[in-house]
Amino acid sequence: KKERKIIITIDGWSSCGKSTLAKELAAELNYIYVDSGAMYRAITLYFLRNHIDWTDLAAVHEAMQNVELEFVYNPAHCRSEMHLNGENVEYVIRDLVVAEKVSDVAAIKEVREFAVAQQQRMGNNRGIIMDGRDIGTVVFPDAELKIFMTADNAVRVERRFQELYKKNPNVTLEEVKNNLELRDYIDSHREVSPLRQAEDAIILDNTNLTPEEQFHKALKLAKERIGQF
Ligand code: DC
Repeated sequence: KKERKIIITIDGWSSCGKSTLAKELAAELNYIYVDSGAMYRAITLYFLRNHIDWTDLAAVHEAMQNVELEFVYNPAHCRSEMHLNGENVEYVIRDLVVAEKVSDVAAIKEVREFAVAQQQRMGNNRGIIMDGRDIGTVVFPDAELKIFMTADNAVRVERRFQELYKKNPNVTLEEVKNNLELRDYIDSHREVSPLRQAEDAIILDNTNLTPEEQFHKALKLAKERIGQF
């Protein structure tokens, strides 16, 4: 018997472990995983590299005609990676330089319309898990399972710091803390689809959960929902 496929959305604050959970669930359920933040990061990288003044909406409109984003599966890493105009940018979009500007770029209406339309097409056949900020509220308001992730600030700062430090030992805890706080502020206060919890989302606070505990909680929810459809 063929199981009905659902859409699972995972939204929440920066560095809550959304992508870790989403990837694990996708592997277990044999679903597609999509990191929507990678799209905003890649657009930001394009703007930075091409010196686009994104406060100028005409310049943004023109630039967006030249942006092509694609998730390409890399068997060596067992994951999909972000390609910007044919170039694999999965690694460089994680840079703090990009993180420092991405919230400003992600607040632009035209940028969001571009990304959301592409995200919705990826969900056409369901069987997808997407993480981000507005996935349960705007991209897939009819998703069968919506998770809203959160964790204490200090825990999130430490996690992101460890991740960035591996790549760049010059990064400081202070820098990472400032970036997370500023991004969360901008992401939740912007005019166009701000980060907020969908009314029908289930909160998952992982401050005191091990990755395994968190995974099993989420998997149980997913299986309940799949069983209902
Ligand atoms: O998930 P992330 O940290 O890679 O996302 C980077 C930024 O992109 C985040 O600070 C806000 C923006 N973003 C967004 O506005 N909407 C999404 N669905 C995903 C990310």
